[in-house]
Amino acid sequence: MCGIIAYTGKQLAMPILLDGLRRLEYRGYDSTGISILSRKRIKTLKAAGKLNVLESKINNPVSGHCGIGHTRWATHGAPTDENAHPHTDPTYRFAVVHNGIIENVDTLKARLGKDTKFTSDTDSEVIAHMLAQQTGELIDAVRQVLAQIVGTYGIAVIDQQNPSTIVVARNGSPVILGIGNDEMLAASDMSALSRYTDQVVHLDDGEIAQLTPDGFQVMHMDSSVSHKEAITLNDQNAHYDRGAHPHYLYKEIVEQPDIVVQTLSGRLDDRFSTARLGGLNLEARDLIGIKRITILGCGSALYAGMAGASMIESLARIPVAAEPAAEFRYRNPVIEQDTLYIVVSQSGETFDTLAALREVRRKGGFVLGIVNSVGSTIAREVDGGIYMHAGPEVSVASTKAYTSMLVAFALLALLLGRSRDVSPQRGSAIIKELKQLPENIRAVLALEPAIAKLSEQYNKSQSAFFIGRTNGFPIALEGAQKLKEISYIHAEAYPASELKHGPLALVTGETPCFVVLPNDDLLPKSISSMEEIKARGGPVIALTSATQQASSRIDTLADAVIRVPETGSLTLPAVMGVALQLLAYHSAVSLGRDVDQPRNLAKSVTVE
Ligand code: AGP
Repeated sequence: MCGIIAYTGKQLAMPILLDGLRRLEYRGYDSTGISILSRKRIKTLKAAGKLNVLESKINNPVSGHCGIGHTRWATHGAPTDENAHPHTDPTYRFAVVHNGIIENVDTLKARLGKDTKFTSDTDSEVIAHMLAQQTGELIDAVRQVLAQIVGTYGIAVIDQQNPSTIVVARNGSPVILGIGNDEMLAASDMSALSRYTDQVVHLDDGEIAQLTPDGFQVMHMDSSVSHKEAITLNDQNAHYDRGAHPHYLYKEIVEQPDIVVQTLSGRLDDRFSTARLGGLNLEARDLIGIKRITILGCGSALYAGMAGASMIESLARIPVAAEPAAEFRYRNPVIEQDTLYIVVSQSGETFDTLAALREVRRKGGFVLGIVNSVGSTIAREVDGGIYMHAGPEVSVASTKAYTSMLVAFALLALLLGRSRDVSPQRGSAIIKELKQLPENIRAVLALEPAIAKLSEQYNKSQSAFFIGRTNGFPIALEGAQKLKEISYIHAEAYPASELKHGPLALVTGETPCFVVLPNDDLLPKSISSMEEIKARGGPVIALTSATQQASSRIDTLADAVIRVPETGSLTLPAVMGVALQLLAYHSAVSLGRDVDQPRNLAKSVTVE
């Protein structure tokens, strides 16, 4: 899940490549590099570390109007200068950037012969050496090389003997072409293109394209022409401007009330007390024919899916299960006709989720997508879907997209519920609850000073627990996810009932336990879990929507209480989620972590 960028045109390539890499850096920040065709030679500059390391090494701008760039998330070989892309062949005729994994690299290296000297530990470098052994047009040389590769790739190649030509190709990793005036770009995602054009073309798997300043041609691997429609991008550039916010994560946390309004916009039908979801591609009779729902995703998207499962099951009384996409895919699942499959993904490019989607469709299942990135691969391959309209999410840790997913699931639960036995009155109450959500999130944002103080109090902990029951458990899972991925505190989430079956052994005075306590029928049970932890001397931080009147026992027992507005069960995960996002954010800041680009992670996981 690296980021690749390419440019050929009349402008100087270097500033455009560096700017593109800045926008793509959230896809991997282990090393960066560029290669530019300058004075009939390929000049390559690359360095381990973030883009600013490379920029600090560039003494003089490199002239040249055609080049490629890469920002890396290491899979094969450590984050070193040598392993940074672009890779070149020994004659420096070709330069290659690659996003993906070459599974048969050892076979290909053996085929090249033992005299071939590799300068890196990467799988990708083999492409450059193989190109040097090809003859003919650049695009044919690339096609012949790719025909031998087993694995995934999004690549861009330049050739000293074709000064303004770039060849790009896709199999598994996204490649998008940007159409400019007398210039062409290509990139792993739209963020790197939107400053230069609003006209883009998505390559599909098995497609290869030749770009020159005059235009582009897309072909299938069998050389047949592939006719592509350009789509127009909405201007998303504002989202890439952090403004006065200290971090993209903070900006994306505090803009959530507006994001909720965007996700709800035009989708609440007061007349019939239901939701209006125009992109499902399902008729009313299809909705009542659904006997089961399976939700598939990864990471925070999966946790949003688990909360969504509770919403739909409780409201529409349909059995719903949420599963990690890769686990589902590799267990050879039984696909049923009257089961609705839902894949959920912010980027719309997560490889495991995409592969699960393809497995279901291959077996004849109907798949809905809850997706943020417009035009992404998952969005283009599902049978129907709900766009989240959360705007591009730049920080690697998901916040506004997670909340927008929860809102999308609440809308779907309302629609399915109203297509069954949820009354119009109940429907109207849910619409009222959804309309109230932005305000409730603002109320949680107002708790920031107290939450920040709390996170500083516990940020020395080596580990922390998050526990919850039924609806509270997915909230606990996402709370633990946020804390671990940005503060690096080892946080684990458990169903509260599971604590005494093992994890309780780890509870000491040094392991803060964040207990999620919705004000529901299980509140007394959750309070007993607090008792259990207190009995072992564990610090308890209660996150609750129960008023003090409703339960003073919480305040007596807990070392600290985060009290959020009392809301219905459909919007509680979003409200509590924001409190846990702030907790993780301030823990990470107080520990001096790289909040927007946490170590070892990347925004869009396009490899298996
Ligand atoms: C969340 O903070 C992480 N960035 C990660 O778990 C993410 O949710 C997961 O990789 C799924 O990404 P997607 O929503 O783009 O498919």
